[in-house]
Parts: sequence; structure tokens; C-alpha cells
Amino acid sequence: MSLLGDIFKKPKADAIYEVKSPNGQLDCVFVLDHGQISYFVKKNDKVVLRKSRLGLILRDMTPMADNFAVIRAYTRTVDETWKAEWGEQRIIRNNYNETAIYLEEYENPNRLLTLRFRVYDDGFAFRYEIPAQPKMKNMVVEDELTEFSVDTNSRSWSIPAYQPDRYEYDYVEHPVYTLTDSVHTPLTIQSTSGHYLAIHEAALYNYGAMTLKLNGASLKADVTPLSDGMRAYVELPFSTPWRMVIVGNNALDLITSRMMLNLNDPPRDDFSWVEPTKFLGIWWAMYVGEWTWAPGERHGATTEHAMQYIDSCKNLGIPGLLIEGWNDGWEGDWLENGVNNKFMEATPDFDMQVVSDYGRANGVELVGHHETVGYIDNYEQQLEDSYKYLKKYGIRYVKSGYAGSKMTINGRREFHHSQLGVLHYQRALELAAKYHIMLDVHEPIKSTGIERTWPNLMTREGARGQEYEGGALSPSHACHLPFTRLLAGGMDYTPGILDVGNFAKRIASTVARQLAYYIVIYSSMQMASDRPQIYENQYPDLFEFIREVPLRWERTLPLLGDIGKYYVVARQVWESDDWYVGGVTNEEGRRVELYIDFLEPAVNYIATVYRDSEDAHYRDHQLGYVIEEKIIRNGDRMEMYIAPGGGFAMRLHKQ
Ligand code: NOJ
Ligand code: CA
Repeated sequence: MSLLGDIFKKPKADAIYEVKSPNGQLDCVFVLDHGQISYFVKKNDKVVLRKSRLGLILRDMTPMADNFAVIRAYTRTVDETWKAEWGEQRIIRNNYNETAIYLEEYENPNRLLTLRFRVYDDGFAFRYEIPAQPKMKNMVVEDELTEFSVDTNSRSWSIPAYQPDRYEYDYVEHPVYTLTDSVHTPLTIQSTSGHYLAIHEAALYNYGAMTLKLNGASLKADVTPLSDGMRAYVELPFSTPWRMVIVGNNALDLITSRMMLNLNDPPRDDFSWVEPTKFLGIWWAMYVGEWTWAPGERHGATTEHAMQYIDSCKNLGIPGLLIEGWNDGWEGDWLENGVNNKFMEATPDFDMQVVSDYGRANGVELVGHHETVGYIDNYEQQLEDSYKYLKKYGIRYVKSGYAGSKMTINGRREFHHSQLGVLHYQRALELAAKYHIMLDVHEPIKSTGIERTWPNLMTREGARGQEYEGGALSPSHACHLPFTRLLAGGMDYTPGILDVGNFAKRIASTVARQLAYYIVIYSSMQMASDRPQIYENQYPDLFEFIREVPLRWERTLPLLGDIGKYYVVARQVWESDDWYVGGVTNEEGRRVELYIDFLEPAVNYIATVYRDSEDAHYRDHQLGYVIEEKIIRNGDRMEMYIAPGGGFAMRLHKQ
């Protein structure tokens, strides 16, 4: 029996539902046209997205797309604020208009589908909700028909999907009409409509991650397939992740949007135990070739080195120490051998008891390291016990890693961003929460804002970071990140390498720029990545900034920027009147004019500026820097020089 009464059981009854943003400027329109579902979007009467298809293609069933009638629609307005545990903004307003459209097929098998639209002032989102129903208990998603029909002449910035190095690629600018191979989200677009858009998803659980590719004249969702070609296996009821689009009038508007976090649920438990931290690491010494991950003569993770590094943490005032290569499994080609990694067994030259006791005695917390090399079957067998093992030694932080081009799950090779990958990352996160462990995930699943629900997911990598220096990074990369990857939240870029001229790993950066990264690239766990002797012996003056820079912000104000060219941001310190400002540029040096209009009026602020000297250059004069103090008041203008491949950092302390 159909839920539709006979009166409404009229096939092809067309319908339109308009959902407007609270300020009335953004207009998301659901269209039912001869039973087919679609939507389009306007802002101030300009078309942002043309008519775009909606629907799901399911295995062994007719697609859910074409034979629908509206049973009813329900509208509400939400306006609330919530407090983050950490992040780029402490107090966040969640204000939207929502319409849920309840649909039923007017032909056999009469399936039910709900489409829920939320429209904010800064963008819109929708998701498919498939209720439990008599004729469908579960479903296998073969494909999604979801389109985002932006004008294909628009410019876009993205990284390619389905590549061996996961999200670790350079951002490239392409016209949308060339995107015939899938790209990851967030996909940033400068539309011919005059708007800046970022297409992304929120609350990705139990489903393949959405990538996007051109299909005819439209961008279409290409949900990551499993190795059998299916996109997801789910039980009903099920809600897909939110498909979301930030809509800004300029590129900086994208950065202030908190829609992704707002589309995620509040935490279900108390997470007041989470605590941002800064850490040194037995890490860069491996990258410069001084030490090795694997045991041997130059093994980095020895008891002796760890104790030396703990001393350095204490001297430098850094609360945490990451130790990589401490466990059994790194011998030989560790990418090949990682199938046997053991997460509860230290190498013979590393004594976890001695090191953790020494850390505790000196007020230094260890950051554990789990390099899974993507061998999920091996890792999951040990996962819970390995967290218990860390807790036994008082360790509350874990950096996890998923190197390798694919994951091995259930004996099959799967994409990190497939449904099975997503499920693994979630199991690891939820178990970590159970043991009050905080995670820094490398080679992660991209962020879709679930850190609002799981604030112990402190940070992740998920883009090229400092480890690519030594030739593979250009100064434009960090000028792309704020407008692309970082729209999805914090990143562990591993900043703070001051030994920029080191021959083996020469860095495309001035030293001042390394400080700027702590402000420009948000992370609630920040590494001071260089070898401690560099901080202790060569740059105690610059290091002072690294020690002091905060890990969470009251609010964030992007000041200036152009995608891939330069970016300047001001951030107010969490529950404080102090501010920090940071900026980076690409290969071109530039003088930026800062208009300081965000300070408390009529009060002096002491500005400590760390900037490039006039003759600094990322290629041949990386060490040219100036540290100076000035008095700044609200309303002042400041000119700041940024050298080619350079940057600046400024602390504004209320006097
Ligand atoms: C890649 C990570 O990004 C890096 O930080 C780590 O050192 C190596 N994998 C080894 O786990
Ligand atoms: Ca990496």
C-alpha cells in the first residue's frame, strides 16, 4: 500500500520548494518535475547553480530519481550558538532555514526518500535520508546522480583524486570544463556568476567520500568506489553525508564560513579532557638523513635520544615529544614490511618504561606513534590493546599514519577515502575517545567537520606538508592551502623548520615564513618540527615565538589574499584581548598594507614583528629576518614587506 492517499497518487505532480537563507540573499530551490528531483541555487537573483539533478542509483533496483511525488514538506528555522573545545573560533553561530521534503515513488516499489535542505547566509547543504521502509531494508549504492551545475567556464582549484599519494598533491587551477578526471573536495571555484564557491561534504560517516568530476555539462558527485565498484553498503534508515556549498562574494568569505562544523552534531559525551598541545619530535632528523626510523646504527628512537629530547623539551618549554620509529616493524623497506608492525612492542634499544618515567619526571608528555602503513587488518587486531598500552605509560596523544597508496582491509586493497577506509578511521577515533586519547592523523580521511562531534580528533594532515620540502614544494602551495584544504579544518603541516638551508632538505621558505605558518595554517596540535639543537643553539630569538604562539583562537579574520598568491590573517587569542597576524606570499615578494581595525579602541598594543629583511629570498637568502617592536593602536595602517617565498608573524599584546 502506498502512503500517498489516492487523491495525491497522481503521477507527475510538479512541485517547487524555495528555501531562503536567513538574510534572504541565498535561494535554494527544490524542483519536482514530472517525478524527477533536482534543485537550483540563486544568490541575489544571480544563478549560482543551474538546475542540478538529484538521486541515487542502487544495485538490483530502479534508480531513486524519477518517479517521486511529494507527500509533505516541513520547514523550520534554527538560530543557536555553541562553544568549541578548540579551533579557529570559540563561539559559533548556527543559523539556517531548513526544509525537509518527504517523497514517495508513485510507482512500484513505492520507496520513500527525504531530502533535507539547509540554507545559511554563507552557503547551503542538502542530504538524502532513506527511512526504514517495507520494501527496502538495506541498499547498495552504485552511484549518486547528485550534480552541482556551476558554469563550466568558471575557474577552479583542486587536487586530483584516486592517486597513489592520496591528498598529497599540488593544488592546480583549471577551468571547470576540463575536470574530466575526479578531484577531491573541498573544490574551490571562482564562478562566472561573480561568486566564490567551495563544494564539499559534511559529516562523512559509513559512506565513500565524495569526489567530483565533469559529466556532460555538469559537475557530478563521484562517490569513492570500493574494490567491487560499489560506493556504499548501508542498512536503513540511513542519511548520506551533507553535500554542501559555501557561497561567498570573495575568496576570503570562504574562510570565515563555519557551515561544515555546524552541519555536524554536538558531542554526545563530555570532551572537556581534550587539550591542544605543542610537541618536538624524533622526526626531522630522519628527514635530513641523520637518523633512521628502522633500528640500526643511526636509529633515531633510542632511549638515549628520547631522554636528550625530553631535556630539550624542558629547556625550550615545549610540553610534548613525538617519537617515531620506536616500535617493531620498521626494518628494511617499511612500506613493504608494515604488514607486520607491532604497536605494543618497542625495539630493543628503546625502553618505553624508562622514557615515559623520565618524561613524567620532567613534565614532558609523550606523543605516541602508530604507523599502520595502511595495513588495517593488522592494525585493528591490535588497536584497542595498543591504546591500553599507551595509557599504561600515561600517553594521551597519538600521531597515526596510513602511508601507502591503498589500504588493506578484509584482505582487499581499498582507497583510504572509500567507505571501508571511512569506517576504519571512525573506529580508531571512537576507541581513542573511549580511552581519552587525542589523535593527529596523517594520511587521514579528509575532514568533514566530525571533529565537532569528536573533539579528540585534534588535527590531521591530508595535504602536502613540510615533509615534501627538498624540491617538491613551491611557495605558492601555502598560498593555496587557506582557500582549499584548510576550508575543511586544521592541518598538521609540521611547521617550524628553521634550518632552512640544510642541503639535503633545502626548504622553499625564509625563516620568518616558518613562523607565519603557525598562524596561517591552523592546528590544535602544533609541532615544533626542527631538531631541538637548531632552536637551542641557532635561533633562540625566533623560537620564542614558536613557544608562545597559541593553539586555539577566539576568532579569525582573514585580512587579505588572492588564491595561490598571498594570504594574511588576523587571529584573536582564545579568551584574551591579544591578537596574532600572519602572512605568506608565493615566489613574488610584495608589500602589503594592513589596516588594523580589529583591536580594542584607544589602547596601546605592543606589536612584536618577525619579518623578512628587504634582501631575504627563499632561494638564496633564507636567513634574512628582522625582529622589531612597535606600538600599534586600532585604526593604524602598517606596511609589511614579505620577501619572495617569505612570510611574517606578529604578536599584538594589549599594554
Ligand atoms: C608520513 C607522515 O606524514 C610523516 O609525518 C611520518 O613521519 C611518516 N609518514 C612515517 O610515519
Ligand atoms: Ca604524509
